[in-house]
Amino acid sequence: ADSLNQLAQAHGKFMGSAAATAHFSDSQYTEILGREFGQITAENEMKWDTTEPSRGQFNFGPGDQIVDFAQQNGQSVRGHTLVWHSQLPDWVSNLPSSEVRGAMENHVTEVAGHYAGDIYAWDVVNEPFNEDGTFRTSPLYNAMGSDFVAHALRAAKAADPNAKLCLNDYNIEGINAKSTAMYNLVRDLKADGVPIDCVGIQGHLAIQYGFPSDLRQNMQRFADLGVDVAITELDVRMQLPVDSQKEATQSQYYANVIDACLAVDRCVGVTVWGFPDKYSWVPDVFDGEGSATLWNDSYQPKPAYNAVVEAFGGD
Ligand code: G3I
Repeated sequence: ADSLNQLAQAHGKFMGSAAATAHFSDSQYTEILGREFGQITAENEMKWDTTEPSRGQFNFGPGDQIVDFAQQNGQSVRGHTLVWHSQLPDWVSNLPSSEVRGAMENHVTEVAGHYAGDIYAWDVVNEPFNEDGTFRTSPLYNAMGSDFVAHALRAAKAADPNAKLCLNDYNIEGINAKSTAMYNLVRDLKADGVPIDCVGIQGHLAIQYGFPSDLRQNMQRFADLGVDVAITELDVRMQLPVDSQKEATQSQYYANVIDACLAVDRCVGVTVWGFPDKYSWVPDVFDGEGSATLWNDSYQPKPAYNAVVEAFGGD
């Protein structure tokens, strides 16, 4: 049978997954990761707390393992992430405000510079917004205001001129205050001549909250600004225990996401946020929830896997 990525490629898209070096000793994991996907995203290995745990001390080992895996398997790499309020090492939070911009630009320069040539697209800034569309406070925002986004994008462009430069966020699947804030930011950055190539829509969905039925329309409005869009962290969680009704709803959600991407020319691909269920971040964060990925704990493809295959026109 064709892999998910081969099915996506037939439509000019890719299918990707988050990848975690913590599971590279699990041969069932690496076999599926290498076989099914054409793109991988480091789940944690390229984040600031890993890559620069203390000021000026860079650690590229874990991220390099991700790149090596991708190259051995003919996969592209999404860089995740240069600037984020979370997994931000304490030394950044403790800097005097006047030093934060320099530290951020140096971080972006060193990390994007190290991986230059290996990264197809960077999440330059991750999760800048609150749910109401205001900027999230963080050491970066507090020091630079919203200009931190433009400063980060410009530093990334200088360090890796060939990577696509993206902004990435969650709960921006539908048209709402947060996605409109992202839309306005991209529009303004483009008007100001700041390098911005793409928007990542994470896609952390939950069956109990309903499907964002305007996903396609929302992706299209970003595309109409002249940027690529991608679903970057797809999973569909549910309240446990699993039953066949919930799995059917989950399958429909996965298929709906594929359908929306297929309907938007500038949707370049869909990336799932890891597998199997036992390695998902969901149970660690949402009490009593889980079963969010395409493979069960014994690596059997779930009904949602078949739904993705069918959405791509496979059998
Ligand atoms: O590696 C340590 C381990 O040594 C330690 O014993 C253990 C104890 O808690 O923690 C382990 O680190 C954890 C790490 O995942 C690796 O498993 C961290 O505590 C935990 O916070 C971290 O969670 C990650 C989370 O981002 C952090 O914010 C998840 O794996 C990762 O899936 C998740 O990914 C984010 C995206 O980057 C951005 N969008 C949302 C998405 C889901 O939260």
